[in-house]
Amino acid sequence: MKILTQSLASILLLVILAPNAFATSPPAFEGRKLYVSHCLICHGSDGKGNGPLARKMSINAEDLTSAVRSRSDNTLMKIITGEDREKMTDDSGHGKISNDMPKWKDVFTSDQINALIAYLRFLSTSKHTLTGDPELGMRLYRQYCSICHGKDGDGKGVMINLIGLKPIDHTNPARTDKMSNEDLSRSIIEGKGRFMPAWRGILSQDEVDGLVSYIRLLYQIWGKLEDGGLVVLLSAKSNSSCGENQKLSDQAKRQAMRIGKQFKSQGITIDKVISSPECFSKETAHTAFGKVEAVDHLASLSDLPESQATAYTEALEQRISSYSGKGNLVIVTHESNINAISFEKLSDQYFLVMAPLGASGYEEIGKYKLDN
Ligand code: HEC
Ligand code: HEC
Repeated sequence: MKILTQSLASILLLVILAPNAFATSPPAFEGRKLYVSHCLICHGSDGKGNGPLARKMSINAEDLTSAVRSRSDNTLMKIITGEDREKMTDDSGHGKISNDMPKWKDVFTSDQINALIAYLRFLSTSKHTLTGDPELGMRLYRQYCSICHGKDGDGKGVMINLIGLKPIDHTNPARTDKMSNEDLSRSIIEGKGRFMPAWRGILSQDEVDGLVSYIRLLYQIWGKLEDGGLVVLLSAKSNSSCGENQKLSDQAKRQAMRIGKQFKSQGITIDKVISSPECFSKETAHTAFGKVEAVDHLASLSDLPESQATAYTEALEQRISSYSGKGNLVIVTHESNINAISFEKLSDQYFLVMAPLGASGYEEIGKYKLDN
């Protein structure tokens, strides 16, 4: 009996663990599957709002590919779930979202909605269409390509240590984006350089097209950050204890070092680090990145009179829009300050990435989770 209960327990455990297998596939890949089954009928396969049902509706479904750019992840979350949609104010001219757009609150988990958002961001930024079947692509990628290109496509497969080869990083859009679907397909079929094998005779054209589409969905923020010129916002708790001689607690120090290590191991160049003058932020930034400059207007807004808070918020927006550099700018400030410019609630587990646009402000690229 005991054995039976034990094996039942392990079967149960397996069942519970099974969905986690999805957690490791790229968010945009998961998002695409949900998009195809739930959104395509109105928004169209390419997100241009020409799905079969859109024609029957009094207003056309938005052209998602352009509309999404001016929306933060939080706003998209509200639009998709329908929660607080009525309260949404928006000065970008899109106005409120009508109830012709269904409310998906009870249909998807928050992970699924984040995946949908990742796919919408892909639709709005990639110039390449998906011509193959990414699900077929993922299966083949894991079978044939991960050994060199890495399970997550970041170019860090087990083979790189064995024979010192340098596979291309498929999570970096800057590199793969320059290549058309046909270019990628040709490289896979004919091979490349000394170590990239030719797959002619092993994979069919459909399989190669699937691989190409899967590779397109592998893009991740780390790849974008590698190319520099972006602004990363981190939030530090305000009024956290930080004394003169014992600056950060051991735990806070370890956490800060983990953040720094994560950016470093991804090959991200950080040109400049600015932080709130509050000791905890300053020390966190310094421990993580080895340099920091304290800036008054990054101090927590929560205890400030409104006029000063507004001035600080404007100064922060100015900082972000006007940034230009080969590497990236890191800003360590507080939840209230970040909330004021992006409507994102950024806990210390996350970072936010913005692309400066000079006189036209900045564009929010998205919110990403730090590894733990
Ligand atoms: C029954 C048709 C229909 C379906 C299905 C549908 N939508 Fe919509 N969606 C609309 C319409 C219509 C609008 C425009 C509403 C408006 O502007 O008032 C819209 C607007 C949106 C917007 C806002 C665009 C913007 O920023 O202005 C987003 C985001 C969106 N939909 C995402 C989704 C996602 C994700 C799914 C699938 C989970 C989905 N939609 C499924 C009809 C639909
Ligand atoms: C034995 C290791 C290895 C395996 C297995 C492998 N690759 Fe590669 N791949 C490489 C290397 C090394 C490069 C860089 C080649 C260069 O630029 O010299 C590369 C480059 C590429 C490129 C970019 C080609 C270009 O024109 O710049 C693509 C696309 C690619 N691989 C796809 C795949 C796919 C899809 C698979 C699985 C079907 C795969 N690779 C399997 C090692 C590998």
